[in-house]
Amino acid sequence: MLFDHELTPRQIVEELDKYIIGQEDAKKAVAIALRNRSRRQKLPLEMRDEVAPKNILMIGPTGVGKTEIARRLARLANAPFLKVEASKYTEVGYVGRDVESMIRDLADLSVNMLRSNYSESVKEKAGLIVEERLLDILVPPLTKRTRAKKQEIAKTTEGSALKAQAGEDILARTREKFRKNLRQRKLEDKIISIEVQNRAFPMVEIFSPISFEEMDINFKEMFGGLLPKKTKERKVTVSEAREIMMEEESEKLVDIDKVVFEALEKVENSGIVFLDEIDKIVGSDSKTGPDISREGVQRDILPIVEGSTVATKYGMVRTDHILFIAAGAFHSSKPSDLIPELQGRFPIRVELKSLGKDDFAKILVEPQNALIKQYTLLLGTEGIKLNFTDSAIDEIASLACLVNEQNENIGVRRLHTIMERLLNDVSFRASELSGKEIKIDPEYVREQLADIVENRDLSKYIL
Ligand SMILES: Nc1ncnc2c1ncn2[C@@H]1O[C@H](COP(=O)(O)OP(=O)(O)OP(=O)(O)O)[C@@H](O)[C@H]1O
Ligand SMILES: [Mg+2]
Repeated sequence: MLFDHELTPRQIVEELDKYIIGQEDAKKAVAIALRNRSRRQKLPLEMRDEVAPKNILMIGPTGVGKTEIARRLARLANAPFLKVEASKYTEVGYVGRDVESMIRDLADLSVNMLRSNYSESVKEKAGLIVEERLLDILVPPLTKRTRAKKQEIAKTTEGSALKAQAGEDILARTREKFRKNLRQRKLEDKIISIEVQNRAFPMVEIFSPISFEEMDINFKEMFGGLLPKKTKERKVTVSEAREIMMEEESEKLVDIDKVVFEALEKVENSGIVFLDEIDKIVGSDSKTGPDISREGVQRDILPIVEGSTVATKYGMVRTDHILFIAAGAFHSSKPSDLIPELQGRFPIRVELKSLGKDDFAKILVEPQNALIKQYTLLLGTEGIKLNFTDSAIDEIASLACLVNEQNENIGVRRLHTIMERLLNDVSFRASELSGKEIKIDPEYVREQLADIVENRDLSKYIL
């Protein structure tokens, strides 16, 4: 895995190029933002706190890669990444305070991310412990008492000492035999009974003015420790038992305090929040009655973006160095309609362009997760060899553009609907076509799609 500090902005862009076609400015901007963070980490402590991240505002129509760029960037940086729709905070039922929930969610995400990393690293150790536990169930060892009893008998009866020893040897050998079978996964379906911890919380009704999200802060800690840990016997297969035990054992092996400490540090220093639909919280809509005004939401978001401390169930999180990437189409508003303080917090503006036919053609084949690759592999599992000619791809791209012009422009997402329709027939008859090579040429594309594209009413529903 590559890490951010090892990548130069140019390399970051190259990595993004593997998934996103075009949008060079946006890619450059996020690459610089990411690099700036690792630059900041190298500064002396006093200086480090002075350097605020340069938040980014992405402007562009729907389906041109805004979210995709941010998501890929986060993955590249191995950073905790949260996407939220800014407009959700204007919905009835939300109060201003809840804007902070984005930071709590980010913290959750980071803790889970690290927890699973650490669980992975103790997997081997946990596996060995689980194996012993399973063997104890399959070949129960002698309890101290029975062993003592046997030895007692052995003293009194002639020849029994030998027998007892032999008994122990047999037991040990049986255990090894079972161990071998366990490792070869020969006992997976055998039913055994195990003790599982019953962690169900008792149902409590909560009448409280604060939201559940906030209740969450200490709920588990408050009650979790107090409740008696009940165990319950369950009959499960060996393979289920292994899974349950693996979870239990890795939980014991992972130092949760360390996980939380590192996770919060990661949130504070490399967390990324993607604020989608920021344009939907522009302008006050006081005319529409009892409102949590949009501008109000902007004001709520402001302190978080500016840097404040948010209480999460794991502890306080400082938001000063979290990178915020806001995005919006800004069809009926402009970034300058945002409240000035918020504008100032998103100094880097990048515009994403609407994509045309040539871009579509590239998007169909070039990205590592390109649609054509996906369909070819999917149908490959049915023994079908799909073969797209270059001119067929051009044809698909131009039909997608056409439909985008005729109906609504949904950007690259149009390719998904078109491809699905194009291969509808093949997908359906896949098992009958097994072993065949199917050539997709412009004629085939037109045959499958032309009627629908030409019939506007129809295409509104189907494509
Ligand atoms: N430039 C591009 N190159 C490759 N794939 C793209 C590109 N733009 C979009 N896509 C694909 O199209 C889909 C939608 O893109 P994305 O989610 O980034 O849209 P968006 O710009 O965030 O739109 P919205 O404003 O609706 O949120 C994704 O599956 C993405 O992989
Ligand atoms: Mg998006």
